[in-house]
Amino acid sequence: MMQHVDTESLRRSAFEHLWMHNADWAQVAEEGGPLIMVAGDGVRVTDSAGVTWLDAHGGYASVNVGYGRTEIADAALEQMKRLAYFPQGATTEALVWLARKLAEISPGSLERTWPVTGGSEANETAVKMARAYHRRNGEAGRYKVISRKGSYHGATGGVLWMGGGPGRRPDFEPAYPGMVYAPHPGHYRCELGGRDPSECALLCAKAIEDLIILHKPETVAAVIGEPAASGSLVPSGEYWPAVRDICNRYGVILIADEVVCGFGRTGKWFGMEHWGVVPDIMTVAKGMTSSYLPMGAAIVKREVAGAFAGEADLFSQALTFGGHPVAAAAALENIRVIEREGLVSRSAEMGSYLLEGLTALMGKHSIIGHVGGLGLLIGMELVKDRSAKEPFPPEAQVEDMLRRKFRDRRIILVCGPSGFKLCPPLCITRDDADQLTTAVDEVLGELASELAGMIS
Ligand SMILES: Cc1ncc(COP(=O)(O)O)c(C=O)c1O
Repeated sequence: MMQHVDTESLRRSAFEHLWMHNADWAQVAEEGGPLIMVAGDGVRVTDSAGVTWLDAHGGYASVNVGYGRTEIADAALEQMKRLAYFPQGATTEALVWLARKLAEISPGSLERTWPVTGGSEANETAVKMARAYHRRNGEAGRYKVISRKGSYHGATGGVLWMGGGPGRRPDFEPAYPGMVYAPHPGHYRCELGGRDPSECALLCAKAIEDLIILHKPETVAAVIGEPAASGSLVPSGEYWPAVRDICNRYGVILIADEVVCGFGRTGKWFGMEHWGVVPDIMTVAKGMTSSYLPMGAAIVKREVAGAFAGEADLFSQALTFGGHPVAAAAALENIRVIEREGLVSRSAEMGSYLLEGLTALMGKHSIIGHVGGLGLLIGMELVKDRSAKEPFPPEAQVEDMLRRKFRDRRIILVCGPSGFKLCPPLCITRDDADQLTTAVDEVLGELASELAGMIS
C-alpha cells in the first residue's frame, strides 16, 4: 500500500529549501516539478502522485540491477545492525570480502582496492596515486594528466578540469595545473578528420603520443579516459590497445574511468575488457552498489600498488566514509545479484536488441544522424541534414522538445541539444525495450513534423 504523500507541500518545500543538482529550481517549479519519487521496482519508479515512469537513464546511469532489490537492503541493514562503522586503523569483514571479490572480477593484476564514496573521489584518488607513484620511482616531475575533450570525470576541484579546455567552467577558475587535452575518438564527427572509425581511432591515439612528446614524457603522469561513452563515442577496436602501448612506451599511467562502464553497463564486467586492455588504475562507482549506497574505488594493479608498500612510501590520504562497511555490504550483494541473474550478458543481449530497434528507425526518420553504443549505453544524435551531419540550431530548442515529449510518455532519459542517451537498468526486458523504441519512433515523428521547415 502506498502511503499518502502531500505532493504540493513537498514541492513548495523543495522550491524554498532544496538546491537540486543540474537544475534551476525556478524552472523546475515552472514545469510543475520537481518530480518526487517515492518507490521503484525493476526499471520503473513511481512518483508522489502515483504515476509510474520508465527510467531509461537508470538513475544516473547507475542503478544497474534495477530498483527494489530488497536483498541489497537486507544486506545493508544486517551490516548496519551488527557494525555500522569501525575504529581507525582497523577494517571490517564486509570491506575485506568486497576487496577480494573486486580483485576476482577485475581484469589482469588489478588486485588492490582503495575505497572511496563516489566517482569524482575515485578519479581524484587515481590522479594523486599516479603522481605519487612516479615520485616513488624518482620521477617527481611527472604531474600532467592527459584527458580527452568532451569527457566527464567528476565535479570536485581537480577532476573537474579533466575533459575540457580553459573557459569551459569560468565559475571555478583558475584551472587546475597540468591539464592537457587530447581529441576524443568520437568518429561521427572525428576532430582529426578520420574518414572512418578506424582511421579516427588511430589518429586520436597518435595525438596522445604527440602530446606526450610535446610536453616531454618526464612531465606526464597519466592518461585518463572512459572506455566508451554513448552514441558514436565508442572507439574503434584499434584505439585502446594503441593508447596502452603508448603509455607503456613513455612510462605513463593509464587510468580507465569505469565509473559508468563498470559492472556490466557495456555488456562486459568492465568496459576495457572489450579490447583486452588492462589499465594501471581502474576507477569505479555508480554500478558498484547500483547506487543503493554511495561507494566508489580506485582498483590498482599489483605492480603500481607495490610502490606504496612500506611506511615511508605510504599513500597519504584518508576519507572518513571511504570503505564504509554498510556500503561495502551493499556492493557485495549487488555483485552477487549481477552474477546470479547473469546481468552482464543480459546487458550485451538487451543492448544489441535495443540498438537494433533504434537503428531500424533510421530508415523512417531522416533526422537521426547517428545511433550507437555498447551494451546498455546507447545514444542517438539528431541532425537537420543527415548528409551534411548538420545539427539543429539552438532556436529549434530540441532539448526542451525531447524532454517534454518523453515526459508526456512517462519516460525518463537524458536529453541534450543534439539528442539523447539511454542507460536503463540491466534487468530491462524486451517489452520494456519495445516500449522505448516505440516512444522514440513517436517522439521523432512529432519532432520532425514540428521542425519540418528546418529539415534539409
Ligand atoms: C565517466 C564518469 N566519471 C566520473 C563521474 C563522477 O562520478 P560521481 O558523480 O559519483 O562523483 C561520472 C558521473 O557521472 C562519470 O560519468
